[in-house]
Amino acid sequence: MGLLRIPKPVEIKSNKEIEKMRAAGRLAAQLLDYIEPFVKPGVTTEELDRLCAEWTKARGAISAPMNYGSPKNPFPKHICTSVNQVICHGIPNKKQVLKEGDIINIDVTPILDGYHGDTSKTFCVGKVSDVARHLVETTYKSMMLGIAEVKSGNKVGDIGAAIQEYAEGQGFSVVRDFVGHGVGKIFHTEPSIPHYGIRGRGLRLKTGMVFTIEPMINVGTWEATTLSDGWTAVTKDGSFSAQFEHTVAVTDDGVDILTLP
Ligand code: MF3
Ligand code: CO
Ligand code: CO
Repeated sequence: MGLLRIPKPVEIKSNKEIEKMRAAGRLAAQLLDYIEPFVKPGVTTEELDRLCAEWTKARGAISAPMNYGSPKNPFPKHICTSVNQVICHGIPNKKQVLKEGDIINIDVTPILDGYHGDTSKTFCVGKVSDVARHLVETTYKSMMLGIAEVKSGNKVGDIGAAIQEYAEGQGFSVVRDFVGHGVGKIFHTEPSIPHYGIRGRGLRLKTGMVFTIEPMINVGTWEATTLSDGWTAVTKDGSFSAQFEHTVAVTDDGVDILTLP
């Protein structure tokens, strides 16, 4: 039939829905603030998971990662904990004890009143190497530069280009295999938001679109592989990887970050 690919339309959210997303996003950001003081040498990633699970439940929310994915291999924990060379989707476990010099991304997604708030941060455990600190700072700044491109009329490629130019300019690489995503009542939906790209290309942003920007930046190669657990994504060369994530809404004259405390 030689059909063209017909892209699925991207949902445009009403102001009322965006306020519900802000409530979920605020809860997610507050959860990261809550867990931060526990991120210290000696704590296990299992303990961080337990604390986040209890905090979330006590606020009437649901941890979206728990049982997410294919029924054959659902994600088994409430948060993702991605340490050092782990790019994303690290699984909390009781054998993993944090030590000085580690970097750990904690990615949380509470569902509040049916809406997902998706945000993550990379924390430094005690004193870390100069390279690790530079990586974490570069990753945060690249996310903020990507967010600064969000505005009705701009293109998805503008976001990726801003992130890629900055991260590669600092000598690092941008992960290709995982991208930002539309979010709402559904955890992962259209559009895809690559953290690399070409200015002026891709989908045109419209007021009311809500999606995540969540660059994963590596010290060495951008290439990733997944461990035999089917979830944990690691850098192919074992180099450190960092990530930050916000959920944002497109507005007429700019951007509304929904995952602020
Ligand atoms: N929160 C992650 C994201 O930013 C997704 C985690 S899915 C899980 O998209 F199943 F690994 F938890
Ligand atoms: Co996300
Ligand atoms: Co996330």
